[in-house]
Amino acid sequence: MSDIRPVLIARFTRLGRLAGLFVRIKLRIFPLFDLAEQVPLKGKVLDLGCGRGLLGLALMLMSEHRQVFGMDLDVDNVARTVGAFARRGRCVVGDLQHLPFRGLLDCIVLSDILYLIPNAMHGAILKACYGLLAPGGVLLLKEMNTRPRWKFIWNWIQETVAVKVVGWTLGNRFYFQDRASFVALMRQCGFEVEVIPLDRGYWYPHIVYRGVKGDG
Ligand SMILES: C[S@@+](CC[C@H](N)C(=O)[O-])C[C@H]1O[C@@H](n2cnc3c(N)ncnc32)[C@H](O)[C@@H]1O
Repeated sequence: MSDIRPVLIARFTRLGRLAGLFVRIKLRIFPLFDLAEQVPLKGKVLDLGCGRGLLGLALMLMSEHRQVFGMDLDVDNVARTVGAFARRGRCVVGDLQHLPFRGLLDCIVLSDILYLIPNAMHGAILKACYGLLAPGGVLLLKEMNTRPRWKFIWNWIQETVAVKVVGWTLGNRFYFQDRASFVALMRQCGFEVEVIPLDRGYWYPHIVYRGVKGDG
């Protein structure tokens, strides 16, 4: 697979210098390709809380057999993703707490979003995702772990600036959960769970919970 980083940077730079800078920084601090590697190479993928559509665009560039849909609460984000999703998918404005989708999907990605939603809602959201997946479908819950402590604190400081000071991301409070809690919650919803730590080489405690919906 050829390196698609230059394509991603070029596509976003077309939207403006700030958007280009955003992608350059994101590619350094976020394990985009490690996450993308967990997504099935073909089928329907739904990226919930898709932000500016960087992951969705990467997924489409990496396999022409993927159809990618996105949803985000932030109207401005969705407007900016239109170009990214236009070829083989679509992005809509919507609230994760009231999913407007039907039908069976092959993969759902929740990347760095549940920490913005009250803990009491997490179970219902994961259960709704379970219902939207086809048998054998995959849920990728990308979060920030609460360990190691120094990475958690570093991330908390950065999120405080992004969400509460600059207003870069929608949200008011943070609802991080530890690894054991997420694993238990996903199992309760019916998923077979595998934990994939992705923080090696990063200052951030990136972690992915990979849930598979059984065939039964
Ligand atoms: C930290 S960003 C993550 C964006 C992207 N998933 C990523 O990993 O780069 C969180 C995103 O969640 C969106 N968001 C926050 N609350 C939401 C909700 N209730 N429903 C849908 N999207 C939401 C924000 O607008 C923002 O784009």
